[in-house]
Amino acid sequence: MEFDARRLAREELRDLPVYSPGKSPEEAAREYGIQDCVKMASNENPLGPSPLAVEAVKRAMSMAHVYPDPNCTKLREALSRRLGVPAECILVGHGADEIFDLLAYAFLDRDDEIVVGDPTFTSYELAALTMGAKARKVPLREYRQDIPAMLDAMGARTKMVMLCSPLNPTGTTVSGGELEEMLGSLPRDVLLVLDEAYVEYVSDPDHPDAMAYFNREPRLVVTRTFSKIYGLAGLRVGYAVCHPTVREAMEKVKLPFNVSRLAQEAALAALGDEEHVRRSRKANERGKKRLYRLFEELGMGYVPTQANFILVKNGSYPDLFERLLRSGVIVRAGEALGLPGHVRVTIGDEAQNDRLEKALRGIAGGG
Ligand SMILES: Cc1ncc(COP(=O)(O)O)c(C=O)c1O
Repeated sequence: MEFDARRLAREELRDLPVYSPGKSPEEAAREYGIQDCVKMASNENPLGPSPLAVEAVKRAMSMAHVYPDPNCTKLREALSRRLGVPAECILVGHGADEIFDLLAYAFLDRDDEIVVGDPTFTSYELAALTMGAKARKVPLREYRQDIPAMLDAMGARTKMVMLCSPLNPTGTTVSGGELEEMLGSLPRDVLLVLDEAYVEYVSDPDHPDAMAYFNREPRLVVTRTFSKIYGLAGLRVGYAVCHPTVREAMEKVKLPFNVSRLAQEAALAALGDEEHVRRSRKANERGKKRLYRLFEELGMGYVPTQANFILVKNGSYPDLFERLLRSGVIVRAGEALGLPGHVRVTIGDEAQNDRLEKALRGIAGGG
């Protein structure tokens, strides 16, 4: 009989889907023969990393033979000063994705449950399924997470509720009132995980300050990342702000050297480059307004966003994703995100937005 490791693998893995990232320009080139695709699919910062982060990585390279600090001490101290929370409440991960895995490893037993919006960022559910736990999925209401319905969905086995704000894939946020409502009714031994991967892009002045909530609510776990506005997705750095006992549990299951020396130094430099963050935020606002105007002119519906991506309705172009791809613009198909009839477009730099505009005008003009 032929060897097949599926017989050996844990039962939980049998039906576990593999995370599928958006199409890469290389794949598009292979499949469609288009050589100069622009990728507006993964919500990366089109301005790239801070030049200070690039310099920091070059400097750190000469120490590449030495293991990195397993505790990310300098970065945690800098984050502690920036956020006004004790360093003992911060855990740095190999991207925010690792934090979701660590939360699952540390807190989810078989048949436990997490409550999530539907759709939401898929990593939460994948992490839970790996542990034999399940996700109770609560449909969005008007593209927003439905807090009362999420509270209703909690059962005796619920260990965590995952909120994403701004929400990937719709760009909507959780209001201060909704956060109050959730925390006010959260059962005693349930963690509320608030994923703020895109928070630095938020322009709504009423957006709640998660750190203020954290300082009075030990069950709140706030996750953030250096992959988005800080432009370091390729280096993999994210972090959790959480109660020290939550951090301790996660530390027991994390790899000792989970964040490379280069990544730690880059994140530290990026955190210090406030000008780069300001520039990135401004460019995003400019691009957002431009794309809103374009969609409106072409009669295409969209969901107003607080992040660096926009959910666009296919409207009269059911195959919008394919058509854009054939025009050399890679976006994210709604089907893959649980929102058929939509595409998610990352707000690009001027050149990328030009390409998107040209492609959409071609499609709308019958091209
Ligand atoms: C909502 C959300 N959370 C977390 C992440 C993952 O962040 P990281 O790159 O730090 O793993 C993403 C990445 O797309 C995201 O959209």
